[in-house]
Amino acid sequence: MSQRIAVVGAGFIGRSWAMVFSKAGHQVTLYDIDPTALAEAMSLLEVNLADLESNGLIHSKDDLLGRIQPFETLEKAIEGANWVQENALENVDVKRELFNRMDKLLPEQTILASSTSAISCSDISKGMKGAGRMVVAHPANPPYLLPIVELSGAPETKIETISRAKDLLEAADMEVITLNKEIKGFVLNRLQVALLNEAFKLVEDGIVSGADLDKTIKHGLGLRWSIMGPMETIDLNAPGGIRDYLERFGPAFETIAKEQSSLRPWDSTRYKKMEEERRRVMSLNDLNKRARWRDRRLMALARHKEESDKHYGK
Ligand SMILES: NC(=O)c1ccc[n+]([C@@H]2O[C@H](COP(=O)([O-])OP(=O)(O)OC[C@H]3O[C@@H](n4cnc5c(N)ncnc54)[C@H](O)[C@@H]3O)[C@@H](O)[C@H]2O)c1
Repeated sequence: MSQRIAVVGAGFIGRSWAMVFSKAGHQVTLYDIDPTALAEAMSLLEVNLADLESNGLIHSKDDLLGRIQPFETLEKAIEGANWVQENALENVDVKRELFNRMDKLLPEQTILASSTSAISCSDISKGMKGAGRMVVAHPANPPYLLPIVELSGAPETKIETISRAKDLLEAADMEVITLNKEIKGFVLNRLQVALLNEAFKLVEDGIVSGADLDKTIKHGLGLRWSIMGPMETIDLNAPGGIRDYLERFGPAFETIAKEQSSLRPWDSTRYKKMEEERRRVMSLNDLNKRARWRDRRLMALARHKEESDKHYGK
């Protein structure tokens, strides 16, 4: 059933959510505190939707665009919304202020969801009257091409909020996981942080260049991970499954895991060389063009996965 979805914050994540919800047939309103960002989002949406259409992933760009309406005030954008997806700055005070305002303006059945990458739901909803209808719905960038969403509620979040959220997101073709307890960074970013932490060390210690490190993921782990996760991977990597894998590789890998547990600061000045290497490969001005290339390749992959799921199963 078509719902009214308000998307608050129209940057990378907000405009992408707008496509997800519009593709699912919902009426979407889009708001950003910065009118220039809002106008830019509307023109970027046209470009992304045209790409989706030419890749056969949607029928009509105009239909989807016709269901997305920009608004320059929060009050107008959220009026009558059944669901709000917030995608403003990653700052707890900004989010608290926004959610408290929206909580006062919206009827209690409206679900309030945040896309936050690493702020817990309870840090935002603490003391909020409607904390029971608030949830984190954390996507990966860009959500219109990467279907994963992590749902994480505060202890105050009602079970009914989580189940309604799951239903609405799954009906919008998203793949939903539900966290049983709150934890900083949820699951996806905890995994990503662990990987980046080790990647930074390998590059800083001169073991490998940034470009070769990227190759390891792009032509190795990443290829495999596009069809299965690490649990299934290790179950297939030894003849006797996961137990056999742990018996064969456990002792050596545990020594590595111990070495990896030391912490170095995550600091942009410390990793200047890594940035310089990237800038030699690609100038800052070319990043947007490359992001469009990434999105088009992800579209081709989505099409391929759709077909191959039909032949081989998920
Ligand atoms: N970029 C990612 O990889 C990624 C992935 C998953 C989740 N997220 C989360 O999504 C959220 C948005 O991130 P992004 O990457 O889209 O950032 P972004 O900088 O591209 O967009 C943020 C937008 O929010 C607007 N904004 C700021 N304050 C606002 C307010 N009070 N009300 C309305 N709009 C406001 C800004 O003008 C900007 O257009 C963050 O919480 C981030 O952690 C980001």
